[in-house]
Amino acid sequence: MDSLNLTERFQAHFNAKPEIYTRAPGRVNLIGEHTDYNDGFVLPMAIDREVHIALRPRSDSKVRIYSLDLEVESAFELHSLSRGSDWIEYPKGIAFQLLKEGFDLKGFDAVMTGNVPRGAGLSSSAAVELAVARAFAAVSGFEWNAARMAKTAQKAENDWVGVNCGIMDQMASAACKKDFALFLDCRSLEVEHAPLPQGVAVAVMDTSTRRGLVDSAYNERRSQCEEAAQQFEISALRDISLDEFNGRKVELSEIVMKRARHVVSENERVLEAVHVMKSGNINRLGELFNASHDSLRDDFEVTNDALNVIVDCAREQSVCYGARMTGAGFGGCAVALVEEEKAEAFSQAVSEAYRQRSGLEAGIYVCKASEGASIL
Ligand code: GLA
Repeated sequence: MDSLNLTERFQAHFNAKPEIYTRAPGRVNLIGEHTDYNDGFVLPMAIDREVHIALRPRSDSKVRIYSLDLEVESAFELHSLSRGSDWIEYPKGIAFQLLKEGFDLKGFDAVMTGNVPRGAGLSSSAAVELAVARAFAAVSGFEWNAARMAKTAQKAENDWVGVNCGIMDQMASAACKKDFALFLDCRSLEVEHAPLPQGVAVAVMDTSTRRGLVDSAYNERRSQCEEAAQQFEISALRDISLDEFNGRKVELSEIVMKRARHVVSENERVLEAVHVMKSGNINRLGELFNASHDSLRDDFEVTNDALNVIVDCAREQSVCYGARMTGAGFGGCAVALVEEEKAEAFSQAVSEAYRQRSGLEAGIYVCKASEGASIL
């Protein structure tokens, strides 16, 4: 994204020069799906699709943000926040939560733009939240702590926007390092930056189907996981191994057993994935991707036809090591590991096969692992 352009647009809109630039990335989750709210493990990577903000501090407590992409300005007063229902709720939620946590905030004028596909499961909302949090930190003069801000952003999304998400997306957007995936323990928030294997490209495949009204399905999965944990008398599904689970699974109803089996096996796959990434065993990493998708399809039941079709199209390519749905599911994106040098040909072949089989157009992005939220 071009910060020069952002400067010009800021000048045109506010008749002044911006003084600070912030950015925050979207993310793709490599493996560890629906494990974050079970205190488990995830392995996301920030992508080179981001939200950028150019801003200028104000001397009062007003925040004005002009969205270049929507061509609309929205504003709020820090000390009289009231709920609405459009994109400005994300910045407002961050303000609300920071104030609640005792931060002394200053106002600013800003122009915002982004190229994270919206509603595709690539965390465009986390990117907005973290870019805005960085903006508040810069104008209000408080120290940036990635994990702390990720928690604040998650809380804003839970309590202000009303989306019951886990911590993965905000941690990925806040704490990733360029060229690395983020191995995150969602209970302790300890992180390890895991290097991506050499010669491998990460292809994000957007099915162009959107998840729509699935909050209820997401929440239902969460309750089923909690029910399993309660039944086992553990605080979260993170606390049971696959062997132990297999010995006790008869204690659960069929449906709760399947949901829990996905989570428990997925946690083990993440741990193995980190291990094989370090040893460079790409073939095994691909197998783990495949097993993750199959478990999300058959046990957790959060894929849709489009996701299953695009994953099949990807796996049929000889340059593909493995493919799986990514994010919450029910639509959105899948992710594939492919031979780096053949990534372009892979994208074309998958688009073509997907068009033939589903009648839909895929958006395929070969992504680079990028840096978490920063000041430019
Ligand atoms: C969404 C949520 C995350 C996580 C994933 C599933 O992206 O925002 O917290 O639960 O779904 O892994």
